Amino acid sequence: MKTHQTAAGLVLAAGKGTRMKSSLPKCLHEICGRPMVEWVASSLKEIGVERPVIVIGHGGDLIRDRLGDGYDYVEQTEQLGTGHAALVAADKFRDHKGPLIVAAGDTPLLTAETLSNLTEKQARNGAAAAMAYCRLDDPAGYGRVIVDNLGRVEAIVEDKDCSPQQLQVKEINPALYCFDSETLFRLLPHIGKENKQGEYYLTDIVAAIRHEGGSVEGQFVDDFSEFLGINNRWQLAQAAQLIRMRILKAHAMNGVTIVDPNSTYIEGDVTIGVDTVMHPMTVVEGKTNIGGSCVIGPNTWIKNSEIEDDCRVFMSHVDQVHLHKNVRCGPFANLRPESEVGRDVRIGNFVEIKNSQIGDETKISHLSYIGDSKVGQDANIGAGTITCNFDGFAKQGCSIGDGAFVGSSTILVAPVKIGDGGMTAAGSVITSDVPDDAMGIARGRQETKEEWAKRWRDSKTDQEGQL
Ligand code: UD1
Ligand code: MG
Repeated sequence: MKTHQTAAGLVLAAGKGTRMKSSLPKCLHEICGRPMVEWVASSLKEIGVERPVIVIGHGGDLIRDRLGDGYDYVEQTEQLGTGHAALVAADKFRDHKGPLIVAAGDTPLLTAETLSNLTEKQARNGAAAAMAYCRLDDPAGYGRVIVDNLGRVEAIVEDKDCSPQQLQVKEINPALYCFDSETLFRLLPHIGKENKQGEYYLTDIVAAIRHEGGSVEGQFVDDFSEFLGINNRWQLAQAAQLIRMRILKAHAMNGVTIVDPNSTYIEGDVTIGVDTVMHPMTVVEGKTNIGGSCVIGPNTWIKNSEIEDDCRVFMSHVDQVHLHKNVRCGPFANLRPESEVGRDVRIGNFVEIKNSQIGDETKISHLSYIGDSKVGQDANIGAGTITCNFDGFAKQGCSIGDGAFVGSSTILVAPVKIGDGGMTAAGSVITSDVPDDAMGIARGRQETKEEWAKRWRDSKTDQEGQL
């Protein structure tokens, strides 16, 4: 989606958000993996705004750090009103000729489509401004859109400043505008603060434009939920629910089966291939890419991971891991950061892997811990194998070769190497290398005492008269 003329964008986000009851600035509270202000700013990017400008105030440094350098920032040190907030950004648009979209940083549900419709409306009619408006049965609290007898937008009057007659108006200002940038910054310095709140209102620009003979176009938006403003954490949760459903629907429309939308949580930056099935109680976060024809969940949590086609991840935890094609994993696998798992690998129940590389076709089927280690291809790691990678001071790894067969309950005391085709006997504590094709056995020999068990039982029966 591109607008006809390159639009610039301004997001007002200097407010404190007292009702969030938080040490975090309001606009940094997250919805589906992104701070709410980033949802607004990224919709602007979606319609072609290259570097949206964000007006920051409370917690400005935190906002800069979190959002990074894809945006420009302007600091409003005192919150004197929305008109003042826009004015402090004037320098950033000195050289910009054309449309400027102004949005509030606490309305994360805005869609790129609405932004694009608004800019088109402003451009098509060559208006000094276009503004979105909605019709609400209960308009209390919002600025009212006042029209003249020809139905043209004449002014916005804040709820607190409305006459009893104006309070009856059901058309409200959801605070999304597209201005001709030059007009906006020419008129803004002349806006006063003679109103009930003693603030510089951006909304007064509408009357100022009309006063000098310009026109303001109204763009009706039917779905008010797009403009839900976040003031407290309950509204945050409700907005998150709506955004989550949008994300799930987009995946579904792209060929992903979402078995139960009510219990599936997929963040905004996740991609999923065609014919993948997402089962209930599954959370996918961060920059995660899931391939096609995978089956994910139920009860699975995946974060910042790369999962190739045909994988099956079942009741597992996967964090910063790359699974190559056709890996089966779970139930109860814990795959931890910096691990890479080759194609056709099988990882079974209660297996933990951390900072390790697992070669293609290897099997680690039960109850194992592999940390800071490298396992070759087509190896078989027996149940209960543990790499002892920490001596209390340093982390060290083990190396297990191609085709190795590690017997059940092997303890590998790092650093130690099992060569290609090497074996270890079940129950061994391996402290030195096992060469290629050799067998490492490191445990006491079994002694069998004939009839011992029977004698022991008999002695108990003698003492106590019964077993
Ligand atoms: C504003 C509109 C009102 C509209 C409503 C919709 C004005 C005067 N009124 O009122 O017509 O119906 O939004 O929700 O604009 N901000 C700053 N600096 C400031 C003040 C505000 O950056 O000095 C930011 C806030 O962080 C917020 C946005 O501007 O993201 C809107 O401010 P807010 O105080 O919520 O305005 P409302 O009173 O809701
Ligand atoms: Mg508000």
